[in-house]
Amino acid sequence: MTAALLAAIFCSIRLADAASAQSFVPPSKGPLVQTANYTSFSNDTLNDTTIVKGKVFDRIIQIWLENTDFETAASTSVFEAIAKQGVLFTNYNAVTHPSEPNYVAAIGGDFFGMADDDMYHVPANISCVVDLLEDKNISWATYQENMPTDAFYGMIYKAPNYASPSSQPYPYYVRKHNPLMIFDAVSQDSSRINRIRTFNDFANDAVNGTLPQWVFVTPNMVNDAHDTTIDFAASFLEYWLLPLIIDPRVNSENTLILLTFDETESYGIQNRIYTVALGGAVPENLHGTEDDTLYTHYSSLSTVQSNWDLKSLGRQDTNPAVSNVFAFVAEQTGFQNTQVPVDHIPQFNLTGVASGALTSANFVPFAAPNLDASGAGSGGVFRRPGLDMTITDDNLPPPVDLSALDTATPWQMSPRTSSGSMIIPCGNAACA
Ligand SMILES: *[C@@H]1O[C@H](CO)[C@@H](O)[C@H](O)[C@H]1NC(C)=O
Ligand SMILES: *[C@@H]1O[C@H](CO)[C@@H](O)[C@H](O)[C@H]1NC(C)=O
Ligand SMILES: *[C@@H]1O[C@H](CO)[C@@H](O)[C@H](O)[C@H]1NC(C)=O
Ligand SMILES: *[C@@H]1O[C@H](CO)[C@@H](O)[C@H](O)[C@H]1NC(C)=O
Ligand SMILES: *[C@@H]1O[C@H](CO)[C@@H](O)[C@H](O)[C@H]1NC(C)=O
Ligand SMILES: *[C@@H]1O[C@H](CO)[C@@H](O)[C@H](O)[C@H]1NC(C)=O
Ligand SMILES: *[C@@H]1O[C@H](CO)[C@@H](O)[C@H](O)[C@H]1NC(C)=O
Repeated sequence: MTAALLAAIFCSIRLADAASAQSFVPPSKGPLVQTANYTSFSNDTLNDTTIVKGKVFDRIIQIWLENTDFETAASTSVFEAIAKQGVLFTNYNAVTHPSEPNYVAAIGGDFFGMADDDMYHVPANISCVVDLLEDKNISWATYQENMPTDAFYGMIYKAPNYASPSSQPYPYYVRKHNPLMIFDAVSQDSSRINRIRTFNDFANDAVNGTLPQWVFVTPNMVNDAHDTTIDFAASFLEYWLLPLIIDPRVNSENTLILLTFDETESYGIQNRIYTVALGGAVPENLHGTEDDTLYTHYSSLSTVQSNWDLKSLGRQDTNPAVSNVFAFVAEQTGFQNTQVPVDHIPQFNLTGVASGALTSANFVPFAAPNLDASGAGSGGVFRRPGLDMTITDDNLPPPVDLSALDTATPWQMSPRTSSGSMIIPCGNAACA
C-alpha cells in the first residue's frame, strides 16, 4: 500500500471521530490540579534548580494551537483580550502545510521536505533545539495534554471521553503534534526521554517550583481547535492560560509566553498565524501594541539563541529572510534583524515542493548543517555525533521519487498496525 493511501485512510478515521459537535469542558479543577482524565498521575517532578540567566527572559513557554487563519483568531474576543496583555505579532508565519512539518521546523530548523502527517523519525545525527539548550545547561521539557504516560511513543492515544463519558474513547493525543518525539536525538536517548511529559507532570512540576526554562506545550485535539472551533480553544485558554498568566509559579518577570498556531486553516493564502508574546518579560509599555516584523516558526529558534547566546542548528534558523528575532528581544541583545522587501517574502503556504529526507516524492538524504552559517547567538553551529560532514546541501544527489517505486522514505514508519488499532505501544525503540 502506498504511503499516500495509508495517510488517506488514517485521515478519514480521524475525521469521523471528530464529527460530533462539542463544547469545552474543563478536564480538571484547574490547570495546576492533576486529574484522572489525563490517564496517569505524575510519578516525579523535574529537579532542575539552576537558572541560566538569559539576556531578556529566563523562561520561555510556547503554546501551540491548530489550523486557524490570523483574522479568525485576531477577531475572537478572548484572543483580542489576550493580545492587550502583550505584543501581537501581525506578520508571523507558519512555514508549510500540514501540521507535522511545522512542529518539526520549530524544533529542528527545517522540515526536511515533509508534506504530510505520517509517522516519521529524524535520525540521531540531526540536531535540534534540545542540543543547543543542553550545551548551556538550560533545562527543558515538553508537556503534551492527554499523552497517557511520559515518553509514550504511539501515533495516537484514545482516552475516555471526559466531555461525554458514554461516547467512544476520544483520540485526544497525537504524536504529530509532539515534535521532540520525532527526533531520535531526544526520544531514543534515555537521559532525555522523560522530559517528554504529561499534563499532570506540568501541574506537578509547576507546583514543585521546578518548571524548566524552555517549555513546549501542546493542548489536546479539542482544546487546540484542531477538531473544534476557535471559540472552543478560546474557552480552553480562559480555563488554562489566563490563570497561569497571573500565577507566579508559572509566569514571573523573567518569563516569555508565546501563544501561536501551527498553520492557517486556508491553504490558498499566505500562512500568517495569530501569535502573541506575553508574560513578565514583555515590557509593559509594549502591552497592547502590534509588531509587523516578518517572523516565522524559525524565529522561535533564533530568539532563544539570541537570548541565551546559544549555538545554531545551521539550517533555516540561520537564514536571515525567515528567522528574525522578536524585535523586543533583538533590541536588548543587539541582534540586527533583516528587513525583507515585500516582493522577496517567501510563500509559506507551499506543500510538497521542497526536497528532503522526509518526502517520498522528492527524496534526498539528510545533509549536514551548514557549518559556516552564523546564527543569532554566538559560538558557531552545533554538531551531533555521527554526522557525515561530506554530505552537504551543495553536493546532495538529485531528488528521487520513491513513491513511484512504492517505497516509503527510510524515516517513515507505518502509522497503523494491521489490526487497525490506532495505538502502537512500540516502546522507545524505533518501530521500523
Ligand atoms: C473529568 O472531566 C469532567 C468534565 O469536566 C469532569 O466532570 C470530571 O470531574 C473530571 N474528572 C476528574 C477525575 O477530574
Ligand atoms: C521538587 O523539587 C525539589 C528541588 O527543588 C526536588 O529536590 C524534589 O525532589 C522535587 N520533587 C518533589 C516530589 O518534591
Ligand atoms: C527528582 O528527584 C527525586 C528525589 O531524588 C527522584 O526520585 C526523581 O526521580 C527525580 N526526578 C527526575 C525526573 O529525575
Ligand atoms: C554544565 O554543567 C556541567 C556539570 O555541572 C559543567 O561541567 C559545565 O561546565 C556546564 N556548562 C556550562 C556551559 O555552563
Ligand atoms: C507512573 O508510573 C506508573 C508505573 O510505572 C505508570 O503506569 C504511569 O504511566 C506513570 N505515570 C506517568 C505520568 O508517566
Ligand atoms: C499561497 O498564497 C498566495 C497568496 O499569498 C496565493 O496567491 C497562492 O495561490 C497560494 N498558494 C497555494 C499553493 O495555495
Ligand atoms: C545521518 O544519519 C543517517 C542514518 O544513519 C544517514 O542516512 C545520513 O546520511 C546521516 N547524515 C549525515 C549528514 O550525517
